[in-house]
Amino acid sequence: MESSVQSLLKTRDSGIKSFISAHDVTNINALVAKALDYKANPLKDKTLGENKRIGLLFLNPSLRTRLSTQVAAANLGMEPIVFNVDKEGWALEFEEGAIMSGSTVEHIKDAAPVLGNYFDILCIRTFPSLKNREDDYSELYISQFMKYCGVPVISLESATLHPLQSLTDIITIKEVLNQQPVTGNRQLKIVLTWAPHVKPLPQCVANSFAQWVNAWGEADFVITHPEEYELDEQFSKGATITHNQDEALKDADFVYVKNWSTFKDYGKIYENDPAWMMTEEKLKLTNNAKVMHCLPVRRNVELSDEILDGPNSIVTQQAANRVWAAQAVISEILTPIP
Ligand code: CP
Repeated sequence: MESSVQSLLKTRDSGIKSFISAHDVTNINALVAKALDYKANPLKDKTLGENKRIGLLFLNPSLRTRLSTQVAAANLGMEPIVFNVDKEGWALEFEEGAIMSGSTVEHIKDAAPVLGNYFDILCIRTFPSLKNREDDYSELYISQFMKYCGVPVISLESATLHPLQSLTDIITIKEVLNQQPVTGNRQLKIVLTWAPHVKPLPQCVANSFAQWVNAWGEADFVITHPEEYELDEQFSKGATITHNQDEALKDADFVYVKNWSTFKDYGKIYENDPAWMMTEEKLKLTNNAKVMHCLPVRRNVELSDEILDGPNSIVTQQAANRVWAAQAVISEILTPIP
């Protein structure tokens, strides 16, 4: 008998479900509802992942992504195993046809199938080099993992996107709206604002947030940043883009604060004007907006203490929701394809 339950993740040509971007999701609202259902009852599917293992591979540091995904897997009865590839593993080569006479020791073609034999699901976190835009935006690392491991892959942040973070962000926005809906004849307004930082950061969180808010399609979405900080249009298209932060913040219901380095002249810091920092004064321009940030945050550089420690900040709620986003995605992958 055919199942009437629709899978919330698409099945790729390989017959495998993976979670790399918003494009992998068939119904964002249904995935958000599933995550909030897990928040209300974390152990409702505590045997779904029994006798299965999930491997969490990190090529970069992490606090939230690492621990929330472990908790999520454990809630589903899975055994999570973390491997800090960058510190404990062999240096991996990702280029096809590479002559490995340099510092890399093991090709992904050899390592990934081995990992695919050890684990039922593989999760991987990589960052961009911020040196070569074409290389970073080709998503070589995560693509090679998916190509060679033979099991579902969950992105724990890639060179250009951070999908578990963005799913969490939509979950958190929905959760707030469930308590305090937008009133009157107004459309929900979400603003993504650039903020200063001391070093060049990836565009991943901003790209990903833009991609998910655009795919979700339930908000008037504005992105504000200094000149020359345009994001890749493949993610930002659909948003209103302005260099006037004050204008952007007007009547906002949610303000997402994040730094990113330049995309066009890749990986640079052109501008670090502290006037772009989100402050209590700027909050007055908004509709008493909730303030979001993916964390870690540079206090009093990106966001002021007064906002982070005040009633409008939902950054802890947001970070806590990482568990439910991960649990909903792992659960979808564990659920047989209808
Ligand atoms: N937001 C986020 O990805 O946090 P971590 O880098 O600590 O995982």
